Amino acid sequence: MVISPDMVRLYDALKQKGIGVSDYGLLNKRWGLNLKDKQIKGFFSIPYKKMQMGVLGCVACHSAKAAGQYIVGLGNKNIDVGMIGKDAYLAQFLWGMLPRKNPEFKKIHKNAVKFTSVLKDKNINNLTQGLVPTSLVKTWFYEIQGKKIPKNFGRGQVKVPHLWGYGEKRKSGSFWDGFADGRLPGWAVAVELRGGQSVENIRKMLDKIHHAEDLLSDLLPPKYPFKIDYTLAIKGRKLFNKTCYKCHGTYEKDIYDLPIYKTVKFIPLKVVKTDEERLNFVTEDFLRLIQTNPLNDILTYVSRPNRRGYVAPRLEGIWSRFPYLHNASVPTLYDLLSSSKDRPIVFDLYKSGQRNRFDEKKGGLLVNRDINSSSYKRLLKNAKKGKRFIYYTGRVGHGNFGHEYSFYSKLNHEDRIALIEYLKTL
Ligand code: HEC
Ligand code: HEC
Repeated sequence: MVISPDMVRLYDALKQKGIGVSDYGLLNKRWGLNLKDKQIKGFFSIPYKKMQMGVLGCVACHSAKAAGQYIVGLGNKNIDVGMIGKDAYLAQFLWGMLPRKNPEFKKIHKNAVKFTSVLKDKNINNLTQGLVPTSLVKTWFYEIQGKKIPKNFGRGQVKVPHLWGYGEKRKSGSFWDGFADGRLPGWAVAVELRGGQSVENIRKMLDKIHHAEDLLSDLLPPKYPFKIDYTLAIKGRKLFNKTCYKCHGTYEKDIYDLPIYKTVKFIPLKVVKTDEERLNFVTEDFLRLIQTNPLNDILTYVSRPNRRGYVAPRLEGIWSRFPYLHNASVPTLYDLLSSSKDRPIVFDLYKSGQRNRFDEKKGGLLVNRDINSSSYKRLLKNAKKGKRFIYYTGRVGHGNFGHEYSFYSKLNHEDRIALIEYLKTL
């Protein structure tokens, strides 16, 4: 994603003065961008044809903090592309009013404005931080083939998935629903196409993209940073191998103590019963447009008799991947192992990657559960107003139901605690 040429100079100037780039300064709090050493992670300032280009790269979404530790390959828990789009659209509009003659500027500027106008679209964008609307990419397939974006296009909101183990995962299909053919180097750069990258450029860069994806495939999961009770974890492993492995697989390590990654299994919606909004993203229309898109040799989908369902993800580094499920609707592992009616319906995402937001006991995001406290009531009130830094399960696509396997298997409190201890070792 490229912003309007030379606009990055404003950021460089602010950065020099130390404005907005502190931890939880504007860029971090409002847009959810990762900051490290007073720099936005994944944002680059690159000279191009006598202009300075601001480029937002993959790690803006594909890296994050958990329990205070910065981890590459973990999905950003706070990224808010809808808000970035809204602010950047306005800023670029003003920026474009300055008189300029350079035709190259005009071309890139126009593309950048177009991209942000899609990002900020109220009918398509995400409703909450940490969720990315997959429909953003879908719009490219319509536009490139001169088709109008239909009404009720949908959002297809998902949390950004982890990337470790992707080398094996891609064989059974990319994305949360395993819909995209991940063996080909196309879908990983779909965001770039949407951001204005041309079909010709993508073709020229195919070898590089292939190479980059191979590098991604070698990322390692983060080790659990706190103490683990291994006696309890062994009990947990037994429970896991009885209740969970059929869908999530087993977890062996090689002689160097590195994880042995495996492919993942597709589970129909009627079995997992989690929120289905993301699945509405794949329509008959869309499938047809994929078949005829100008990159249809590398942007293709996996044939499946029934597409409505999610893959059961591998669980390496799962301690860091909260909030859980494809729509980030469940704050802790303990809640995921409980009945869905006992799961929190509202929680604050502010500073979600900090040490003091990590709940070691329940495994995941520490949330306010005191429904009688005034802070909880305030949270719920703000959630109902639509505040984007609060997760509220009442919003469309934010349902926290389904996946009640531990509950159905009648695992008691002690069993759940043991299971969580085992999950920390993965
Ligand atoms: C705006 C945030 C964002 C940016 C920027 C972004 N991604 Fe993603 N990425 C996502 C989301 C969200 C998904 C999951 C989509 C889904 O499942 O519906 C995803 C999925 C993926 C997957 C598939 C993972 C899986 O488990 O199947 C790969 C590989 C990937 N991205 C690579 C990249 C690369 C390489 C780049 C840079 C060129 C990039 N992404 C840039 C948000 C982003
Ligand atoms: C019938 C298959 C099935 C069984 C049994 C099952 N799961 Fe899952 N699991 C899934 C699917 C499918 C998803 C993804 C659902 C979604 O994101 O909507 C998932 C998601 C998860 C996640 C969240 C992953 C993430 O990145 O957010 C965790 C954690 C998890 N399962 C743990 C377990 C544990 C522990 C057990 C055993 C008590 C278990 N599962 C049993 C199919 C299963």
